[in-house]
Amino acid sequence: MKSPRHFLRLRDLERRELEALLHRAEELKRMQRAGESHTPLAHRNLAMIFEKSSTRTRVSFEVGMAQLGGHALFLSPRDTQLGRGESIEDTARVLSRMVDLIMIRTFSHAGLERFAAASQVPVINGLSDDHHPCQLLADLLTAQELWGSLQGRRIAFVGDGSNNMARSWMEAASILDFSLRIGAPEGFHPAPAALAENASNTQVFASAEEAVSGAEMVVTDVWTSMGQEAENAERLQRFAGFQVNQGLMARAHANAVFLHCLPAHRGEEVSAELIDGPRSLVWEEAENRLHAQKALMEFLAGFGPLHQSGV
Ligand code: CP
Ligand code: NVA
Repeated sequence: MKSPRHFLRLRDLERRELEALLHRAEELKRMQRAGESHTPLAHRNLAMIFEKSSTRTRVSFEVGMAQLGGHALFLSPRDTQLGRGESIEDTARVLSRMVDLIMIRTFSHAGLERFAAASQVPVINGLSDDHHPCQLLADLLTAQELWGSLQGRRIAFVGDGSNNMARSWMEAASILDFSLRIGAPEGFHPAPAALAENASNTQVFASAEEAVSGAEMVVTDVWTSMGQEAENAERLQRFAGFQVNQGLMARAHANAVFLHCLPAHRGEEVSAELIDGPRSLVWEEAENRLHAQKALMEFLAGFGPLHQSGV
């Protein structure tokens, strides 16, 4: 049997696919806002496994699936046999005989890859310790709405350069050919292998000020990701000086905008004044999770113009 198409990291899409998907997302957003019904996934089911908390990912996938005419099931390890030791592979084999798509939010990226290898249906990474590709679809859609193409743009990521968001931004820069400048304290730079893979489009700086110099978009994320809670106190100290605020934005491009995948911690990685101010696009960015993932599900389930045009 032909193995299904998965979306575990951004690099699972080729440039032309990613660009087509982002344009489709804009179209789906317009259709949704115009009240047009579009239900290509009628009678299809999405299983959603959440081993970590979520607001946006859960709601955007569940609502997105409903808008496309299908149904989504929320599965928590607390209530499934996964939490009582049933293997990843057995869970994948069973679920993929009943549902059409599977989304997982988990810790280990290697575990996610094992799950996908055993699944007969497409698996979507709803965040792992190493990647958050669905968030990037929304972020790139937000940038596309602003600029059209991202090619040649300069974007700064300030904060934990070793986390899942930084990694997915690095992959985005490589695929779409923009310049990514990561500003992170020593000890929180990207892993050498991740950097080597993306060396042509990513530069790393030990100061936030240098990273944002000339940037047209400044992005940050929490300093303590899910699963790292025990390090929170130390991280607050290590990241002091890496807050994105009006002072830092003054060193970026005059028209620079701000993105944050959320949830945000005002007073830590971002000032309240900035995230709640006019340069912040975070609410549009959050809404774009819905539209971008609808385009993704349509694509992976084998429907929509991306398929018909052979992209
Ligand atoms: N940005 C994001 O993935 O949010 P949730 O953790 O609420 O899903
Ligand atoms: N880096 C964060 C992203 C949350 C959406 C985390 O993994 O917790």
